[in-house]
Amino acid sequence: MATQLVLLAAGQGTRMKSDRPKVLHEVAGRALFAHALASAGELDIDRRIVVVGSGAEAVAAAAEAEDPRIVTVEQREQLGTGHAVARARDALTGAGGDTVVLYGDTPFIRPETLAAMAAQRERGADIVVLGFEAADPGRYGRLVTEGEALLKIVEFKDASTEERDITLCNSGVIMAATETLLDLVAATGNDNASGEYYLTDIVEIGRAQGLGAVVVTCDEAETLGVNSRADLAAAEAAFQARARATALEDGVTLVAPETVFFSFDTVVGRDALIEPNVVFGPGVTVETGATIRAFSHLEGAHVSAGAIVGPYARLRPGAEVGNDARVGNFVEIKNAEIGEGAKVPHLSYVGDAGIGAAANLGAGTITCNYDGVSKHRTEIGSRAFIGSNTMLVAPVRVGAGAVTASGTVVTKDVPDGDLAIGRSEQSNKPGRGRRLMDMLRDRAGKGK
Ligand code: UD1
Ligand code: CA
Repeated sequence: MATQLVLLAAGQGTRMKSDRPKVLHEVAGRALFAHALASAGELDIDRRIVVVGSGAEAVAAAAEAEDPRIVTVEQREQLGTGHAVARARDALTGAGGDTVVLYGDTPFIRPETLAAMAAQRERGADIVVLGFEAADPGRYGRLVTEGEALLKIVEFKDASTEERDITLCNSGVIMAATETLLDLVAATGNDNASGEYYLTDIVEIGRAQGLGAVVVTCDEAETLGVNSRADLAAAEAAFQARARATALEDGVTLVAPETVFFSFDTVVGRDALIEPNVVFGPGVTVETGATIRAFSHLEGAHVSAGAIVGPYARLRPGAEVGNDARVGNFVEIKNAEIGEGAKVPHLSYVGDAGIGAAANLGAGTITCNYDGVSKHRTEIGSRAFIGSNTMLVAPVRVGAGAVTASGTVVTKDVPDGDLAIGRSEQSNKPGRGRRLMDMLRDRAGKGK
């Protein structure tokens, strides 16, 4: 059945002490709300509605960038989770199906967990609530059950002493038929300890109307919510621990797993070797059998099979490293294709360039790609040999099999097979070196 998704993201997150809305803070290079949206990966999602409040414009823009089909609705005053869901009424009109409510600051609900909730709906439960056994139930809402049935959810502030002893807690995730959910949230009141419209009240209201509610449980780790910078760091650590374990399970060698940092979308092939202290920004694919050596930083890059990158390499967006190519130490590659078997071993900047197969770039080769206003391309042919300290002033092309002499500033295209030398000619002055040194020592009174 088609499912609608309502993501509550109106909270201020004051404890973050940030100018940025809480749900835009990132874990593994992806905003919290986007992680939360990804939880619904196994459901057949029709409409996605994000309820925004604090920092509404920025959150709406980020949601739009994530997927232009996402609808944002504003909740100016945060009058409670029930009120927030009610704000989505217009956006849900005519949608039918089920609706699942998620929180924008709760990034780790697994798609399988939401699928289990959907299965309970199919078995006839009117309201399905996601709960968890809390190690420390703290101020979470408590789930009051009787056998399989969920009788009500009671907020900590409103709970009796006996109810506070309950360790089965509310994660906040709720699923019901869209029309039912809208009717129920419309019926919530704010006569409670917080003076808020509680989404959680829909269970008791629903039961009074003869609707049944059940609990699906998940691991407490899944429901981890981010309220502070410390929570954000804990969420990052949890994400990384999982990503490292997954990489190892998938046949990737991590010499020191705890020092490697993945992005939410990093793809690493089997038999790849990742040395210590490597950081992956978003958008990286490392193919089978490639090696990423220590202290390298990669983002938006593709490393093909058998290639070796690093140590101390930086691959920026658009870096395409071909099969068996080499990118060595203190080399930066941006928006450039390094052809099969080509080598850029040391101290180079290669930006906006195409490097042909088996070409060799000497130490200190620089593509001068930026004139201060625009970026320009450099093309190097296959098997070209670029001498050390060559400056390639783009736009420029060096042909296949061509050679540039060390220190050349290449400003004109070099035809295939030619040698380009562009440096001032050297002259040797016989004996002058020794005489110069003698003179300087004399002057300094240092003798010979
Ligand atoms: C809520 C639940 C509680 C549960 C806990 C789990 C209610 C009444 N209580 O409590 O049972 O154990 O989450 O973490 O639902 N939000 C809005 N608009 C509002 C209020 C909240 O968008 O008017 C958003 C917040 O940004 C947040 C989420 O809803 O993402 C939860 O709100 P919060 O106030 O943190 O609820 P809790 O008191 O933690
Ligand atoms: Ca909360």
